[in-house]
Amino acid sequence: MNMHDFPSSQLASDQQIVRDYLSRAEAPRPMSASESADCKSEILTLLVKRNARLVAHYYTESVLQELAEESEGFVGDSLEMAKFGHDCDADILVVAGVRFMGETAKILSPDKTVLMPTLGATCSLDIACPIEDFGPFCDAHPDREVVVYANTSAAVKARADWVVTSSIALDVAEYLSEQGKKILWAPDKHLGSYVQRTTGADVLLWDAACIVHEEFKARGLADIRRLHPDAAILAHPESPQSVLDMADFVGSTTQIISASQRLPNDEFIVATDKGIFHKLQQISPAKTFIVAPTAGEDATCRSCAHCPWMAMNSLESLRESLSNPVNAIEIAPEVAQNAMKPLTRMLDFAAEQQLAVRGKA
Ligand code: 13P
Ligand code: SF4
Repeated sequence: MNMHDFPSSQLASDQQIVRDYLSRAEAPRPMSASESADCKSEILTLLVKRNARLVAHYYTESVLQELAEESEGFVGDSLEMAKFGHDCDADILVVAGVRFMGETAKILSPDKTVLMPTLGATCSLDIACPIEDFGPFCDAHPDREVVVYANTSAAVKARADWVVTSSIALDVAEYLSEQGKKILWAPDKHLGSYVQRTTGADVLLWDAACIVHEEFKARGLADIRRLHPDAAILAHPESPQSVLDMADFVGSTTQIISASQRLPNDEFIVATDKGIFHKLQQISPAKTFIVAPTAGEDATCRSCAHCPWMAMNSLESLRESLSNPVNAIEIAPEVAQNAMKPLTRMLDFAAEQQLAVRGKA
């Protein structure tokens, strides 16, 4: 495995950019129970009136996930969100998640209006892989198949041969490797390195990480496992290798939820964003789910197992986007056309594979 060699000044400036974004991430205003109920019912009316569907990620607030399910919308991982948006016949998709999820929906459904509760919800992986740097990197390695994670801008997708999400990354890498192809992987170095270790593919890595998953620590995990020796560890592959090495199961958010149902354990330690606990607990009310330890609030913890950008999605911002409507995703037509090719390739590949659940279990 090779690692893209970043000059240290580039890395420092990427970290500064992420810090600047984080300082701007707006925390939603808390609502009283009656305000929240009124807001929910206004949103339900607007969804019907506008023939709109709400598509939410598992990391968003429980109330948004409930609303998506109550209104014939959808809650899922990034791949399932993309598939739902592509297949449903609504005029409007409202994507509660982060910007790359809204952009993916728009690229796959150019004739639909795609709204987001906020356009400011980004992702540290997207920020750390600007097309101005990524394009020349690809040009320097023309012998490699360009595989990018869904957590990227439309422009980066437009430069790729393949787009993958965490639920399909292993299958695509294995498929390419079997054909003797070498891979250029961006942006998440932890997921890319996991793919390389698991499939044995020849992978050249971009150097970026998710600020949420990078905080999970093997040492803290070992301590908590001593307290809960019968608990299974479930981890998202954006976590560092030291954490994945200790995990009983590694997979996407949906795959983690399935593993929690399938495994016989009563207790689970979960290394991913704590928004997922809503679905985990809803599906298995008798099981106990414990958040994997991060660096701790008084140390260097910046996210404490909750994505600050996912947290920007609120009932209030959702109502605002639907009632006006505002925060529509727009993508330059040429970029969208080029990004559609690797995205469609991913959906076609997923359909052919019928998405066998992959993991360490
Ligand atoms: P999933 O595709 O597993 O839902 O992951 C998306 C993501 O952003 C994880 O941080
Ligand atoms: Fe990006 Fe990490 Fe947030 Fe997922 S949890 S959207 S990878 S910053």
